[in-house]
Amino acid sequence: MSASVTPRVALVTGTSSGIGEAVVRHFCKLGHQVLAVDFNPAGREVAEKAGASFFQADLTDGEACQAAVAEAIKRFGRVDILVNNAGIQHVSPIETFPEAKWRQIIDLMLTAPFLLSQAVWPSMRENGWGRIVNIASVHAQVASPGKSAYISAKHGMIGLTKTAALEGGGQGITANAICPAYVKTPLVDNQIADQAQMHGMQEQEVIEQIMLKNAAVKRLIEPVEVAELVAYLASDSAGAVTGASWNIDLGWTAQ
Ligand SMILES: NC(=O)c1ccc[n+]([C@@H]2O[C@H](COP(=O)([O-])OP(=O)(O)OC[C@H]3O[C@@H](n4cnc5c(N)ncnc54)[C@H](O)[C@@H]3O)[C@@H](O)[C@H]2O)c1
Repeated sequence: MSASVTPRVALVTGTSSGIGEAVVRHFCKLGHQVLAVDFNPAGREVAEKAGASFFQADLTDGEACQAAVAEAIKRFGRVDILVNNAGIQHVSPIETFPEAKWRQIIDLMLTAPFLLSQAVWPSMRENGWGRIVNIASVHAQVASPGKSAYISAKHGMIGLTKTAALEGGGQGITANAICPAYVKTPLVDNQIADQAQMHGMQEQEVIEQIMLKNAAVKRLIEPVEVAELVAYLASDSAGAVTGASWNIDLGWTAQ
């Protein structure tokens, strides 16, 4: 995959670890100016080490979403690329799923991507160029028990992506979603530990028998593999690619 790289201004969310951290590092290597946004103050060191700027914000708060975009425009004068990546997980059956957790997940993983897209839109429209990349999940395509809020937010994110693609098409703005299966990040490490305890299994057995059960390629995904696809979708080369869901799912949804 060859992508011509013009230096751009990017706002990336959820950057203190995992996929977001990998995207920030990769973007900085490509020469982009990056505002990394996370509620965890540890994100500052991660961002600065990569050569990015950092803005601390809890994105479940709509005003914090506006403030993050205002900060990017204050520092860099515009936003060209938005990567909606921040996310959390909570596993519990619908019958006992806490309402507060449901609201937190929908606020962070569906409402914040909407508000951030809305806030960056004028800058992208004025420049006639914009890239919105939404980190969805294989769970935007299929469901698993116990993850109702996460799966609802991710399915909603595909709808938001398609709508943004249709509205942005005439303005030079593209929107795409990436749908990974299990990526080696803290979010998954926690699930491995929890499931090992829950099922009385070794952690390796959880990976092999639960997480990779539907995978044709039997390994976890590296964060940088997702970051490289983000970089392609955020490049000039991907101008004709919009409204699409890009699976990096080890073949999970091929069956
Ligand atoms: N790891 C996987 O297997 C996998 C698979 C598919 C999709 N995803 C998605 O990729 C994204 C990144 O996940 P990850 O695996 O890198 O997890 P991670 O836990 O390493 O990273 C999530 C980031 O979001 C940040 N965050 C959490 N709540 C926040 C809030 N209220 N405001 C601002 N930032 C907040 C965290 O501090 C962290 O930096 C998520 O949207 C996740 O759903 C992950």
